Amino acid sequence: MRRWIVRPATRPLRGAFRVPGDKSISHRALILASLAEGTSVLRGLSPGDDVARTRAIMASLGVTIEHLDERSVRVSGRGLGGLRAPSSPTLDCGNAGTSMRLVAGVLAAQGFDTTLLGDASLSRRPMGRITRPLRARGALIEGAIDPVRRDETAPLVIRGLTHGKRLFASEESLSVPSAQVKSCLLLSGLFADGETSVREPTLSRDHTERMLLAMGAPLRTMGPVSLLDPRGWDGVLAPLDLDVPGDPSAAAFWVVAAHVVAGSRVQVRGVGINPTRTGFLEALRDQGGGAGVSPKGEAGGEPVGDLHVGVGGTGALRRGANVAGELTTRCIDEIPALVAAAAVSPGESRFDDLAELRVKESDRVAALASMLRAFGIGHEVSGDGLTVVGGRPRGGAVIDTRGDHRIAMAAAVLALAAEGETTIDDVGCVDTSDPGFAEILKALGGDIEVRG
Ligand code: S3P
Repeated sequence: MRRWIVRPATRPLRGAFRVPGDKSISHRALILASLAEGTSVLRGLSPGDDVARTRAIMASLGVTIEHLDERSVRVSGRGLGGLRAPSSPTLDCGNAGTSMRLVAGVLAAQGFDTTLLGDASLSRRPMGRITRPLRARGALIEGAIDPVRRDETAPLVIRGLTHGKRLFASEESLSVPSAQVKSCLLLSGLFADGETSVREPTLSRDHTERMLLAMGAPLRTMGPVSLLDPRGWDGVLAPLDLDVPGDPSAAAFWVVAAHVVAGSRVQVRGVGINPTRTGFLEALRDQGGGAGVSPKGEAGGEPVGDLHVGVGGTGALRRGANVAGELTTRCIDEIPALVAAAAVSPGESRFDDLAELRVKESDRVAALASMLRAFGIGHEVSGDGLTVVGGRPRGGAVIDTRGDHRIAMAAAVLALAAEGETTIDDVGCVDTSDPGFAEILKALGGDIEVRG
């Protein structure tokens, strides 16, 4: 088991660097480029294991994906009707919920059988949220039944549609905002014989919609409502020529780290600043901190900019955070980083509407509570809310990541402000999203040792 030993920072963090390509956008680009007509070039893809799973799955469906350099590929799109049955029907999504939920939307419309598998963590995650609406539109998809949650989970067994049969129209009003469910339905909707309408309570990350629009799909969006109507469309998705923006979810750890270590000056270049992803900056700004944002242009319909902390007037955290409702949706993956910030902010922080956090790579509410306990930081979990009382993390904490990459990185950031050395066990999971995390922390001046 790989572990990190992180020692308290003895000097401010300093550096200007890039984070890995956005994980969400990378998954979508690989899937949609595979369905396009023509050759796409995707540069700066996420180097993590999650995106490697999507790439391997699309390749096993007959798509030629050539390696151009470490992070770039050329994808020979096969068009909407061109995917082939894989030589083995079992496709492994590893730890990647996005791979499973998005790919399921595509596979549900094919004429061949497949089974989507996940690792132990992914096999505990709820899949009824995609299998039910897919079945309602005629897909032949079944999950295993989780007796505790009474929901479907992986493996997902998908039977091919009989020749000439297409999925039906679909009208879904989601009870929780979910970009994965929305994207699954929109992707399946590309193959349907009627309209796909998805309404969310509040808008979740809208990368699928932006990419579909950039590729010429017949999509309309109105806030949290998306309508895809392929009737009368020629069914041609234009190929992509894309520089994937840096992942704001990876950048969030560095923005928080620069607040945790006083006097730091950190610049993260070329980060996606889509407003459905930048809720963490608003939460930190509300605490008196935040990051300066210098817009740099667009990539594939996505706004991109540089983030800087400690340069140009961004200040220290002066009060606790207050994150709830639609703001929670716009920083759902950054809650672990924000909890690390809250742990060293003056006063009390409140995080609400965290129900979805319980079904991520781990039960993140429970994992964050046990992380705070290990650091001796006051906190209380009540229902789907978490209160954190800022203080000084104690030394000697031993953190169990529960196999969740974002818990590992949040703990490493908080460890920079601890009174002594912190041990973070089981950090191999960080490879799912940001395999270079420890190297960046070292380059910024942090003291992190990798063991095992
Ligand atoms: C993602 C959507 C979110 C997010 C996940 C990535 C995506 O999940 O938490 O890390 O790429 O669509 P939900 O759709 O389950 O909220």
